[in-house]
Amino acid sequence: MPSSPSFVSKHSKSTLSVMMHFRMPGFFRSGSNSSSVVSLVTSHSNPAAQPPAPPQPTPPAPPLAPAPPPTTLVTDIIAQIPDAPVHKHEKQSEAHQIYRDQAGHATKGLMPQTVNPDEETVPGIEHPGSTGVIYCSDRAIANGFSYACSHEWSNLGQGAPEVGEIPDAPPRPTTLAMPVDSLEYAPTTGVKALREAVAHLYNDTYRKGKESQYTYENVCIVPGGRAGLTRVAAVIGDVYTSYQIPDYTAYDQVLSAFKRLVPVPTALEAANKYHLNIDQTRKDIRTQGIAVVIASNPRNPTGQVIRGQELKELVELTQEGTTLILDEFYSWYIYPEEGEEYGKSVSSAEYIQDVDADPVIIIDGLTKNWRLPGWRVCWVLGPKNLITALSQSGSFLDGGANHPMQLAAVDLVHPSRVAEEKVALQKHFKAKRDHVLKRLHDLGFEVDIPPTSTFYIWLNLEKLPHPLDNGLTFFEELLKEHTITIPGIFFDINPSHRRNLFHSPCHHFVRLSFGPPLDDLDKGLDAMARVLRKVRKEGLKTIGHSYRKSIGSPIAEKNIGSPVVEMAKLSL
Ligand SMILES: Cc1ncc(COP(=O)(O)O)c(C=O)c1O
Repeated sequence: MPSSPSFVSKHSKSTLSVMMHFRMPGFFRSGSNSSSVVSLVTSHSNPAAQPPAPPQPTPPAPPLAPAPPPTTLVTDIIAQIPDAPVHKHEKQSEAHQIYRDQAGHATKGLMPQTVNPDEETVPGIEHPGSTGVIYCSDRAIANGFSYACSHEWSNLGQGAPEVGEIPDAPPRPTTLAMPVDSLEYAPTTGVKALREAVAHLYNDTYRKGKESQYTYENVCIVPGGRAGLTRVAAVIGDVYTSYQIPDYTAYDQVLSAFKRLVPVPTALEAANKYHLNIDQTRKDIRTQGIAVVIASNPRNPTGQVIRGQELKELVELTQEGTTLILDEFYSWYIYPEEGEEYGKSVSSAEYIQDVDADPVIIIDGLTKNWRLPGWRVCWVLGPKNLITALSQSGSFLDGGANHPMQLAAVDLVHPSRVAEEKVALQKHFKAKRDHVLKRLHDLGFEVDIPPTSTFYIWLNLEKLPHPLDNGLTFFEELLKEHTITIPGIFFDINPSHRRNLFHSPCHHFVRLSFGPPLDDLDKGLDAMARVLRKVRKEGLKTIGHSYRKSIGSPIAEKNIGSPVVEMAKLSL
C-alpha cells in the first residue's frame, strides 16, 4: 500500500481506492503460462522519486523454476507514475485526432457548417462513418496487420465466435448442395422450408404448450443480422425510437441512415448492471411518446442479459402501444452458475402472448449462435404484418439471402441438433470466459461487471494512468503490440456525433472479445501484460503518441517525445 502521506499527486486518491479494489501486493504467484506469471511488490511511498522496488524474495521454488518477470500489475504501475498530464478534450489526444481524421468521423452540426473537401468529393455523397469493427481493422492494417500475417496478431476485438470444431459439438458443415432451383433468386422473405424450420425451433424451445404458435408467416429470412436491422429500420415511420448506450455499434449508422425515425438515447448504468430500466422506459414511453424500443439482449458489449421475470416485464411494455425490437444474436451464450444446467437459452419469444398481436420483433440467425458468420443467413420473427413490410423493404435493400445457404440451413436449425450445439458452446465459451477473467485479475484488472452472457468483456480502464485510461489510446497502444481491441466509444450510439469524445460514458472502456480460440486470447493478454510492464519500466513517455496514420507512413519524428508537449501541439 502507498503508506506515506507524502504521496501527493492526482493519483493519490485513486491509488488508495485502487489498492482496496485490487489484490494486495506483497506475494508471488506463478502459473503455467509464462506471461501470466505475476510477481507483486510493495509499492513505494514516493513513486516519482524512487526507482522501482526490487521484487520480494521468491518463496522456495522447485529447482530450475524460472524467476518471475517484473510485476505488470495495474496497481503497481499507478503507484509508480508521477503526475501524468490530464487531457480534458479529444483535441489533445493523438488517438482521438486520428479517429476524427477519417472520412465521416468529423463532429457534425457545428456552426457554421463546414465541408471537408477530402471527404465530400462525390456530389451528394456523405460518408456515414465506419462502424467500430471497420475502423479498428483499418487502424490494425495501418499498423502492419494483413490477413497473410493474421496469425501473428491477436484479435480481442473480434465480433465473431471461433468457427472451427469445438469439443462435443456436431461436426462443422463443410459441403454445400446446389440444386438447379437454388440458382434462382430466393423469395425476399426467404425459402419456405427454412421459415417453417425456424418457426418450429422457436415453438419447440420457447412456446411449448402455448396456444399462439409461430408459423412460417411470422419469419423473414434475411442476409445477415445487419440486413435484418436495416430492413426493420427502413419500415419504422416518423416516430421516437428509444435505444440505449452502450449497445451494438452498427445501431449508430442504422439509426442515422433512416431519417424518418427519431432516435432517443438512454445511458445505462453500471450500478444497474447495464440493464434497461423497465420502470424508467415505461415512463419514457408515456411522457415522450416513444413508439419503438430497440435493444440487444444479451447485450453487446456489456455481456449482460435480461431474462426471466425482468424479460417478461420488458415484453409487457408492448401493452403500452410500443414496438419492441430485440436483437437476440447471443441468445445461446448464457453461462450457467455453479449447479445450474447447461443448454438453456434466452428469448423474448417465451413471454409473447399472441405472436401476431404482440408487437415484438426478434432478430437472430446463424452468425453467432451457430458460429457461421460467413453464411449470411439470419431471420426476423414477428407479427405477420411486420413480415410483409420486411418483404417490401428487402426487395429494394438487399434482394434476399443466398439461396443455397438457406437450403443448407434447414437441417442446422433442427431442435435436437440445436440442443447439442448449445451445451457444447456454453461449456467451451464459459471456460474461455473464466480463463480471460482470471488472467485479467492476475494483471490487476478487476472487471466491475463480469459477463454472464455473450463473448465480450466490458473493461473499465479508469484506474490506469492517463492517457492509457481511455479506450482509444489503450487500443492504439495495443496495436503497437499486434493486438486488436475495440474502444468503448464505438458503443456510444450517438447518431448525431456532436459530443466531445472525452465526455462519452464509454470513453474509459474497451471491449475485449473471447470469441477467438484460447491461444489467440492468450496472445492478446500477453500483449496487455507487455504494455503494462513497459509503462511500469519506462513510465508514460512512449504512451499516447507516435501512431502510424496509414500503412507505410513513417512515425512522425515530431510526435516522439513527451506526451504533454506533443498533445498540446495537436490541440492547435
Ligand atoms: C448484437 C448484434 N446484432 C447483430 C449483429 C450482426 O450480425 P451479422 O454479422 O449477421 O450482420 C452483431 C454482430 O456483431 C451483433 O453483435
